[in-house]
Amino acid sequence: MKYYLAPMEGLTDSVYRTVHHKIFGGVDRYYTPFLSPTEVHRLTPREVRELDPANNPAPTVPQLLCKNADDFLWMSAEIAARGYGEVNLNLGCPSGTVTAKKKGSGLLAETDMLEQFLDRIFAACPIDISIKTRIGYQDADELPEILEIYNKYPVKELTVHPRTGKEMYRGVPHLDAYAYVCKNTDIPLCYNGNVSTRADAAYIAERFPRTEAIMLGRGLLSCPALLSDKTVTRALMMEFHRELTDRYRPSIGDYATSGRMKEIWLLMSGTFEQDKKYIRRLQQAKTYEEMDGAVTAMICELPIKARETYEKRSENLPNL
Ligand SMILES: Cc1cc2nc3c(=O)[nH]c(=O)nc-3n(C[C@H](O)[C@H](O)[C@H](O)COP(=O)(O)O)c2cc1C
Repeated sequence: MKYYLAPMEGLTDSVYRTVHHKIFGGVDRYYTPFLSPTEVHRLTPREVRELDPANNPAPTVPQLLCKNADDFLWMSAEIAARGYGEVNLNLGCPSGTVTAKKKGSGLLAETDMLEQFLDRIFAACPIDISIKTRIGYQDADELPEILEIYNKYPVKELTVHPRTGKEMYRGVPHLDAYAYVCKNTDIPLCYNGNVSTRADAAYIAERFPRTEAIMLGRGLLSCPALLSDKTVTRALMMEFHRELTDRYRPSIGDYATSGRMKEIWLLMSGTFEQDKKYIRRLQQAKTYEEMDGAVTAMICELPIKARETYEKRSENLPNL
C-alpha cells in the first residue's frame, strides 16, 4: 500500500511538506494544495514557490482547480517544464464560492461540460493526469454517470473521497459508493476520507483490495508521525515545531507564522491527550510569542497519546 498526504489549502504548503518529509516521513507522495490557473497565464509568486523543485524534495504532485482546458494545459506545461510527471485535477472541492463557478465538485453536476473539458486536456496534456473526486455534487446517485465518463480516459490514478460536494465534511464516508467504484472501473484507485489510525488504513486495504493507495488529510495532520517509524517524543514534536517556525518566520513574518502555526497546532494537538485549557490558550494567542508559549506548554506538559491508540479503529470510519 502507498500512502499520500492529502492536499490541504492553508496547511500543507511546500514548507509543511518539506519539514514533514524531513522529520517524520512515511509518506510516498505529497500533493500541493490546489493551484488555480487563470486566463492571464502567468504564475504568481506563491505558485512559483510551490512548484519550484528545490522546495519539493519529496515526491510531489501539483494539483489544479480549473474548468478551462486552455488554462489547465498552460499550467500543466509549466509543471512539466519543472520536471513533474503528473498533474492532479481537483474535482472535489466543496466550497460554495468554487462550486458556484462550476469548479471542483461543482463540475460534477455539469457532465457535458466535464466531458468536453476532459476530452481536451487528456488529448493534449504533456504529462499524466490523475483525478481527485467526490462521488457527486448533490447526490451519490450521480456516481455511475461520472464514473462512466472517467472510464473513457487514461486516468493515471483516481482518488475517491466518498462524499458528495453538498455534504462538505459532514457524516461518514459512503463506503458503499467506494465499493461501487472498485467494481466498476479499472483505473488505479486511491481511497481518501476519515482514515485516522493505522487500523483504519488496514481495514480499507483489506475490505477494498483494488485500493493501491490511501490518502490521509486530517488524521495525518493531527498525528504527523502516524505513518512514521519514529516514536513520538516531546523532543521530536519540538523539533518539528522549530523547523516549521524557522522556515516560516523569514518568509512570511511573525504575524502570519503565528496564524499558520495555530491552524496546524489546532489539528496537531491530537497527538496529545486532549485538554481544553491548552487549546483555549492556543486559540487566544494574539502574537507569535503567545502562540509559541501555548505550543511549548502543550508539548512539555500534556501526555502524548499511546501508540496503541493508532492500532485501533477510529469511530470516524465505521465498517461498511
Ligand atoms: C482545510 C482544508 C483544506 C483542503 N484543501 C484541499 C485542496 O487544496 N485540494 C483538495 O483536493 N482537497 C482539499 N481538502 C480536502 C482534503 O484533501 C481531504 O480530501 C479531506 O480532508 C478528507 O480527507 P481526511 O478525512 O483524511 O481529512 C481540504 C480539506 C481541508 C479540511
